[in-house]
Amino acid sequence: MPGSNTRSGVTRWPWALILLLIGALPASFAQAPEAAPPAGPGFSVLTRQDNLVYYPCMHCHQALKTNASPRPLYAPHLREQPHGGGTFWCLTCHAAEDRNQLSLLTGDQVGFDDAYKVCAQCHAPRARDWRHGGHGKRVGNWQGERTILGCPQCHNPHDPVLVPSPPDPAPPVRIGFPPPSERTVKHHTVWDTLQHDQNGKDAP
Ligand code: HEC
Ligand code: HEC
Ligand code: HEC
Ligand code: HEC
Repeated sequence: MPGSNTRSGVTRWPWALILLLIGALPASFAQAPEAAPPAGPGFSVLTRQDNLVYYPCMHCHQALKTNASPRPLYAPHLREQPHGGGTFWCLTCHAAEDRNQLSLLTGDQVGFDDAYKVCAQCHAPRARDWRHGGHGKRVGNWQGERTILGCPQCHNPHDPVLVPSPPDPAPPVRIGFPPPSERTVKHHTVWDTLQHDQNGKDAP
């Protein structure tokens, strides 16, 4: 029958196609360039340098000889910094000669306003989330130009772990309204509601 012939022709086609694709797979894998993650939306970071107490560092440091040996420091600095548990020291992040600058692991220098570049070297997944808006905070407008907080606006670079703080107490009752009763409202789940509809009686 011509009709069934056409049908079996049609059903054979996908197999031919699948075999062809399987044959082509290794070649296409070998050639495909590694997909780069999307760059993320553009942003500018809220400035920071003007908030620093000790900036410009070179006020003192132009008269001090760099001492690169890790040691507990005297005033005005922190004695120790817990970040990284002793795996690195101040001069991993602060430029040894121009103390007004931060330093990347490559030796390139960045300003205090671009501190996120220092953090991103070792915390790449968090920095990627931050760049895409999944970590940190946007300020100003929710549309248009995107300004976000840099990492040190929330994390102290010398002791970065954020300890959870207890929630604020509930707001007081507005004047003229009676205080709420102690009654607790039971919320039914979707499943409870469905049971109720089927059996014609209240869910437990
Ligand atoms: C008021 C003066 C003063 C200012 C301002 C100051 N420092 Fe220092 N800094 C010192 C002194 C003094 C030492 C040596 C402390 C010691 O040896 O115990 C020091 C040591 C250091 C060290 C240890 C490495 C070394 O060369 O001894 C680092 C890192 C450092 N300072 C970073 C900074 C940065 C970054 C700033 C600016 C944000 C800054 N300092 C601003 C006085 C200052
Ligand atoms: C992980 C990188 C990192 C390390 C390690 C580090 N710092 Fe910093 N430090 C920063 C960054 C980033 C800032 C800017 C902080 C901000 O914007 O609040 C900063 C700020 C400072 C400031 C200025 C603070 C202020 O408010 O004026 C001083 C002083 C300083 N660091 C000294 C040190 C010393 C001394 C050490 C070693 C004991 C050290 N830092 C280790 C990254 C680091
Ligand atoms: C040279 C590498 C390096 C740099 C630069 C660096 N960190 Fe870290 N950071 C570490 C290491 C190592 C730890 C400890 C991780 C652990 O204990 O699991 C850590 C811990 C942390 C933690 C706590 C994470 C946890 O699991 O407890 C936070 C938050 C953090 N860093 C934020 C920052 C910020 C913000 C900056 C930039 C100012 C920064 N880091 C720069 C290496 C780095
Ligand atoms: C708006 C404030 C804010 C900004 C900006 C911010 N963080 Fe965080 N970060 C937090 C809070 C809050 C937590 C703890 C909650 C959590 O684990 O997600 C955290 C957690 C982390 C942790 C994990 C700590 C842990 O205990 O697991 C790392 C690492 C970290 N941040 C790195 C960064 C880096 C790097 C940047 C900048 C690129 C950054 N953060 C910017 C608020 C911020």
